Amino acid sequence: MERPQVSIILPTYNESMNILRTLRSIAESVPRRLSVETIVVDDNSPDGTGSIVEEYSAAVRELAVSVVRRGAKGGLSSAILAGIQRSAGETIVVMDSDMSHPASVIPRLLEALRSRCDIAVASRYSRGGAVAGWSARRRLMSRMATRIARRCLRVEVEDPMSGFFAFRRRVIDDLKFESIGYKMLLEVLVKARGARVAEIPYTFTDRTMGSSKLGARTVADYLRLVWRLYRGGARGGARRSAAFLSKAARFFTVGASGLGLNYAVSLLLAGDGAWYLHANLAGILASMSTNFLLNKAWTFGDRDFALRRALWQYARFVSFSSLGAAAQLGMVYALVDGGHMGYPAALVASVGASAMANYVLNKKLTFGERVWG
Ligand code: GDD
Ligand code: MN
Repeated sequence: MERPQVSIILPTYNESMNILRTLRSIAESVPRRLSVETIVVDDNSPDGTGSIVEEYSAAVRELAVSVVRRGAKGGLSSAILAGIQRSAGETIVVMDSDMSHPASVIPRLLEALRSRCDIAVASRYSRGGAVAGWSARRRLMSRMATRIARRCLRVEVEDPMSGFFAFRRRVIDDLKFESIGYKMLLEVLVKARGARVAEIPYTFTDRTMGSSKLGARTVADYLRLVWRLYRGGARGGARRSAAFLSKAARFFTVGASGLGLNYAVSLLLAGDGAWYLHANLAGILASMSTNFLLNKAWTFGDRDFALRRALWQYARFVSFSSLGAAAQLGMVYALVDGGHMGYPAALVASVGASAMANYVLNKKLTFGERVWG
């Protein structure tokens, strides 16, 4: 076959009951005048999907079908990328192999690419689109994920989570992908900003055969992807605030681990017969030291352990921690006695404020970073 115009990528994992129907519907739907290749990316499905496709491919004339076999289940996005790498078409179509994505939509996607866009999204959520067969829970999850993507990543597409889309190969030519989880399209939309996008409404119908591969991990993967895309986003401001927040999260995690250690050491030593105030002092010193080392190496990625410098930093760290403790006492007192706030609320406010102050002071003055970033 000479270079095909269109490559259709079909990821499969245990789709033995769906894949042949999918391939046949594609053969019926794509216009005869186009040269099309279909690439099935199978992750060694235990139900034999890969072999079924190989037999079919040897038997049919009307559709060029090839199989990329991978050793083990490696996730949807990475399967799609593997298929794209093996493909040759100028235009790429990505769709599921479980009959949820009607092949009859493909000609409309191709037509949109030809006349008005670089990325054509088959859309459940634009006017005229729909979802059939999903539980209320799954609908809600999908809506929430969509909202998060649109808000946080500022994509304007109604259905950025669609698994059914087509684009010109050059759109992704210079892109590097995270290939975490499911949301290949979202990544393309974020990273290929400026590309023209069109949405083609269609009705997604939940599979009737086999089962979904979306699980609890999918949610975690999704959030991780959004975070990465947000952090890597083109806007410098967003990147800086993301760096500030992720370091703050590490700083507070270290703080919490220190509390745990403090508690354990104080109890253990007292149990061993030490005077309880000595035991507690040892606990405090131990946790301050581990907090310091963890924050230096992990939170702020400072691996310079030259003795003089490290000791200076340690001294500052201990001073700021003590200062923070004193400020916390003062603030609780002012809020409860002067501001007539309840003790629990005052405690939350002052622990929060002193932790944040501690973070900022140490970031800037102990570890020499700028505050924001
Ligand atoms: N090779 C490979 N490896 N294929 C996979 C893997 C994998 O790890 N995981 C899933 N697939 C294949 C399935 O066999 C199916 O053809 C397709 O990817 C979609 O998987 P489903 O498990 O059917 O996903 P879904 O129906 O729950 O989710 C669909 O809707 C989402 C929108 O809410 C997919 O289209 C998602 O991409 C889409 O985001
Ligand atoms: Mn499905």
